[in-house]
Parts: sequence; C-alpha cells; structure tokens
Amino acid sequence: MIATSTRPLLQVKDLCVDYLTDRGPVRAVDRVSLEVNKGEFLGIVGESGCGKSTLLFAIARLLSAPAEISSGEVWFTGHDMVSMDEDELRHLRWRDYSVVMQSAMNALNPVMTIAEQLADAVGAHQRMPPSQLRARSKELMRLVGIDPEHLHSYPHQLSGGMRQRAMIAMALALTPDLVIMDEPTSALDVVAQRSLMLKIKQLQREFGFATIFVTHDMSLVSHFSDRLAVMYAGQVVEIGPTRDVFAAPKHPYTVGLMRSFPSISGPRQPLAGIAGSPPDLGHPPSGCRFHPRCPQVFERCSKEEPDFYTREQDLVRCFLFDR
Ligand SMILES: Nc1ncnc2c1ncn2[C@@H]1O[C@H](COP(=O)(O)OP(=O)(O)O)[C@@H](O)[C@H]1O
Ligand SMILES: [Mg+2]
Repeated sequence: MIATSTRPLLQVKDLCVDYLTDRGPVRAVDRVSLEVNKGEFLGIVGESGCGKSTLLFAIARLLSAPAEISSGEVWFTGHDMVSMDEDELRHLRWRDYSVVMQSAMNALNPVMTIAEQLADAVGAHQRMPPSQLRARSKELMRLVGIDPEHLHSYPHQLSGGMRQRAMIAMALALTPDLVIMDEPTSALDVVAQRSLMLKIKQLQREFGFATIFVTHDMSLVSHFSDRLAVMYAGQVVEIGPTRDVFAAPKHPYTVGLMRSFPSISGPRQPLAGIAGSPPDLGHPPSGCRFHPRCPQVFERCSKEEPDFYTREQDLVRCFLFDR
C-alpha cells in the first residue's frame, strides 16, 4: 500500500452516474477520471447539462434517487467514498470535505439564523463551549467578509452575495481539506461575482484547502485554477494545467468555449464558436459525442469513440491528436 501522503487527496476513476428514468437510464457522468492534489484548485467547465453538478454530487455522495453511481471509484484521503455508509460519511462531511452549492438560498435553512446554522455545523463535530463557538462564528464571518452582526440574520435578510459567503463560512468552519463548489457565484451580478472569486482564492491560499470549482463560465476560473477539466456530454474531453489549456486549447469544444467568453463590457454572447446545444444524454451521438457540432469533424468521428491522447501536458479526447 502506498503511503497516504504521496497519493492525491482525491482520486476519481472511471466514474459513471445514471439517472434511472422511466425511459431508461440516462448516463450523466460517463467514465470520468480525475485527481485533485492537496491544496490544488481544479476548475471544471462546460455548458449546462454536461453533468458537472452530477459529478460533484457523486463525489460528495450527495446523489439522491433517481441518480446512482453505477460504476467506478472515488477515493478521498484513503477512504473508499463509493461504498462508505452514511454513518462513516457523516464523520467526513464538513470536517474533511464540504460542499458549497449554486444557491445558498436552497442550501441554507430558511427558519434558522446564520449563527444557529454555523453552531449546528461545528457542533456536530466538535464540542465547544458557547462562548468559544460565538467567537469562532464571528471570526468565520470576518474571514468571508461579512459583518458579524449578520450572524443573527435569517438567510432571506441577506443579499445573494452575503448568503453565498455565509455558505462558504460554514464550509470552512472545520477547516476541511477539500471544498467542492458548484457555480457558487453564478447567481450573482458581475461585480459581486468578481469579489467573491477573489475572496475564495484568498481563503484558499490562507487555509490551503483543495477545491473543485465548477462553472459554465470559463473566464471565471482562468486566473484562479491550477488545472482545468472540460466536460462535454457527461465526459471529460480535455484536462490539463489551466495555463496550457488557455494558451493553446486543443479539443474543438474547448476552442469553442474559449470563443464564447462573455465580454466584460458588452452583453453576454452566445457560444460563438459552437452551433447547437449539448445532446440529450438519454441518446448520446455515436462515436465522439461532440461530432455533430464539431467544426473539424471527419469520418472517423461518428464511427469510433476517441480515447485520451496526450499533447504537451494535456489529455485530449479527440482524434485530431491521434498521431
Ligand atoms: N432528475 C433528473 N432526472 C433525469 N435526468 C437528469 C436529472 N437531473 C439531471 N439529469 C441529466 O443529467 C444531465 C446533467 O445534468 P447536470 O449534472 O445538472 O449538468 P450541469 O451541472 O453540467 O448543468 C442532464 O443533461 C440530464 O440529462
Ligand atoms: Mg449544474
């Protein structure tokens, strides 16, 4: 057995997730493999409907019916996450890993104050006298940039940005090794989004936690993530160091995503580089799933499924790189 310290913090191997619908299984995550090292910031990008949230929920073991992990492995700090029972999971959640959802409004309890919810999260793992708990809660609020007086607010009394920050305070309360974030800024306006991103990065540097950060907006993670995974139709199609992916995107889908950056000054642009929309995952296209939309499609693409090919430091699932 390899010593834990030399292993990645998180290892996902050939993970498949299906939604069991009346019309048959819909495979929303298809043979995804990735690793996250200690303290690393992994960005995951892709249009909506590509399976990003399903992947995060599977990793965090938050899936509920009709979704289920049908095969594959998830290893986190030496724990087999797929077969772990709820009791064991309870020990890891919040303390070793935590999750920040897209909408804190849905994740926070509407009838409890922020202070009460923080106390619940911390109290479930650590016994703390009330005075110490109050001090810790105030400290957490300051860390995420909220005036501690808002501890006594209910979620609906806070702005969208403050709610997301409160969620992040809860996620960091027990200083986990991994914080999983699903589009935590996407409900916010551009200014609030930017300031929350900077805060997340600052906290990550300070605390040293690793992050998996999902977004449909590639420009958002360009300055923040160490590595980037691009998802299309339930699969990772390109993964590599963010710098390399941005400097020289390889998969035609990544190239298309890069062209669709919302400009900072102008209105939001549709995906300029890619016509059409992601496929119905109940009936994915044959061969390469991107081939019906791909500007560089050739005969082989509809007939065979591409494997991963290595280009520089990137892995790319595209026949253009099979040389
Ligand atoms: N409740 C559900 N029932 C059936 N299929 C679902 C359900 N939720 C999601 N899916 C399928 O999973 C795919 C991926 O969804 P999701 O993980 O939310 O994508 P993303 O987060 O990238 O927008 C969807 O396109 C859809 O086909
Ligand atoms: Mg999503």
